[in-house]
Amino acid sequence: MPQPRSPRWLRWPAASPEQRLGYGADYNPEQWPREVWADDVRLMRAAGVNIVSLGIFSWARIQPRPDAWDFGWLDEVMDLLHAGGIAVDLATATASPPPWLTTAHPEILPVTRTGATVWPGARQHWRPTSPVFRRYALRLVRALAERYVDHPALAAWHVSNELGCHNLYDYSEDAAAAFRTWLRDRYGTLDALNAAWGTAFWSQLYGAWAQVLPPRLAASHPNPTQQLDFMRFSSDALKDHLLAERDLLRKITPDVPVTTNFMVMGEVKGMDYAAWAGEVDFVANDHYVVPGPQARDELSFSANLTSGIAGGRPWFLMEHATSAVNWQPVNLPKLRGELLRDALTHVAHGADAVCFFQWRQSVAGAEKYHSAMVPHAGEDSDVHRAVVELGRVLERLAPVAGACRVPAPVAVLFDWQSWWAGELDSHPSSRLRYRAEALDWYSALLALGVRADVVPAGTPLAGHRVVVAPMLHVVSRDRAEELRRHVDGGGHLVTTYFSGIVDENDHVWLGGYPGALRELLGIRIEEFHPLPDGEVVALDGDPLAPGVVATGTLWTDRIDVVDPSVDVLARYASGDLAGRPAITRRPVGDGSATYVSTRLGPDGLVPVLSRLLAAAGVTSELPPQVRGRVELTLRGREGETFLFLVNRTAEPVAVPVPGEVVLGHVSSPDGVVTLQPRGVAVLRRTDLRGRIPAGRS
Ligand code: GAL
Repeated sequence: MPQPRSPRWLRWPAASPEQRLGYGADYNPEQWPREVWADDVRLMRAAGVNIVSLGIFSWARIQPRPDAWDFGWLDEVMDLLHAGGIAVDLATATASPPPWLTTAHPEILPVTRTGATVWPGARQHWRPTSPVFRRYALRLVRALAERYVDHPALAAWHVSNELGCHNLYDYSEDAAAAFRTWLRDRYGTLDALNAAWGTAFWSQLYGAWAQVLPPRLAASHPNPTQQLDFMRFSSDALKDHLLAERDLLRKITPDVPVTTNFMVMGEVKGMDYAAWAGEVDFVANDHYVVPGPQARDELSFSANLTSGIAGGRPWFLMEHATSAVNWQPVNLPKLRGELLRDALTHVAHGADAVCFFQWRQSVAGAEKYHSAMVPHAGEDSDVHRAVVELGRVLERLAPVAGACRVPAPVAVLFDWQSWWAGELDSHPSSRLRYRAEALDWYSALLALGVRADVVPAGTPLAGHRVVVAPMLHVVSRDRAEELRRHVDGGGHLVTTYFSGIVDENDHVWLGGYPGALRELLGIRIEEFHPLPDGEVVALDGDPLAPGVVATGTLWTDRIDVVDPSVDVLARYASGDLAGRPAITRRPVGDGSATYVSTRLGPDGLVPVLSRLLAAAGVTSELPPQVRGRVELTLRGREGETFLFLVNRTAEPVAVPVPGEVVLGHVSSPDGVVTLQPRGVAVLRRTDLRGRIPAGRS
């Protein structure tokens, strides 16, 4: 099992119990008159809130003019919170530069790819590479760190806010200069850059570093490797800002852990958090549910991936919503039970702190219709009652704090490089969506009741019997070797269309697709056959239950089986490729390598996965009658394991799994836990090593 907790978790105030989960919110007292602050603390205490993130957008209030500082109000809030037993995750307040700064230094404003200036008026209007911005930001960080170094409420530093949320891609001159420096570090010479970018194409050969630019608006499709490198660079530039603030904080307040809130959620793809995670003292994440048929699965997937980038150690849920947000076309409130279930799904996947955006719903500004812990209706409201209930539940779950995730038999490999490169323009199809494909596999695993860890590419695969690597487009020589070793060692690999096609420079592996994985899979593809919008192909074959007609969309491949040991598990039953292989599996000793050449969607993947998992000897750890209706996750430490059972449905579900009840209702003496609609139960077991035995049916 991994080490308990990150080496640097929150520095709780001295009198706090050691074993506790964090509970709280972003707290923006600067939006409220002083009279409200005391009431805030009263309500926070009543709700069980023990930590808040403070000062995230307070730059203009703390430093109203270049040489004027106003810490009085912040001192007062810090003291008030501390007196109320509430710890502070103090923001460095650098997320939104004040008007005096952007007026004096418009050269800090980001520039779009078309050359337009991103003006102030919202937030995060700063260039990650601006030396001027950096200077002012670090001055603020220093002032805050020096002022609060000894404040007893200070439990952690919250660098900026959601770095890259609005200023990820900046095409300014500052960005161009920093991009060149980054490229020099990566390639060393212009020759190497020209080779990596394939500049023999379209007369793009660079003769001097000064000629190299970010991929600004061009006449046609910009160089794909230039685009990919710019994505890498942009992620690194934000990380560089994080490191600059972090290093200064560590110098002045070495005892206080530093974090920043990631956005592992939905289609937020620009920040390679796997590469950032090692730079913070603990991983923190924000997550917002986007409604849709896979909304709940997506929440679980994101929480799971957050755990993956945190190395299985506990992490901090910095923001989610008590109910509706304000930034979707239609903003739906949460249904009864969802607030609790959403929060506890994060805990099930390793969150040791559960926080919301925000404490008190704003009366003005762009987010006044965003839900909060204290809504416009006030404390006499269903939302606030659910908030208080969650506080009680988290107190009961204190024994879970510090427990790590127990590795699952299946891993879903998540690769930012493949996400970025796989969705570039000028491809056989512009319709492929990396995260959607990965989520479909995860949904199918949930439907089968099989536990899976979502892990960033590069995580050691040993211990996972089955590795699912959807749309693994970028496969370097090393990655190919790693996957081959996994299979040779008796592991199973499942991959899909558009995998193994290019190397880390986005250069195609020659000799037939799927390039770097061709030999491992024992197949060869000469030409892609993507499907036009709306076109559907039928599949039939072994893994499909009788009477089930699976269908594929988006993509097909004209597969030639080149290794005689390959089994064809399903064939196309319609379309241009009718009769040809659609799903293949190459047995390799005790292991195997499977290729799925079309998008089957979550329902279509269930029978395929079920067959593949059975062949790999992986079965659900849940009793058969609840599989698909209940999500199981395990957190553990030496000698004890916590089973989280999350009801995925709006009906009650009875789960016959024994264990000491930490949370939930046991409805019979022989240990049947009844989950309320959308309910969550937590059981403690001391007799498990690694996996739990299948429950009684
Ligand atoms: C986050 C952000 C918060 C708030 C929230 C609203 O992206 O960090 O400050 O804007 O979204 O959902």
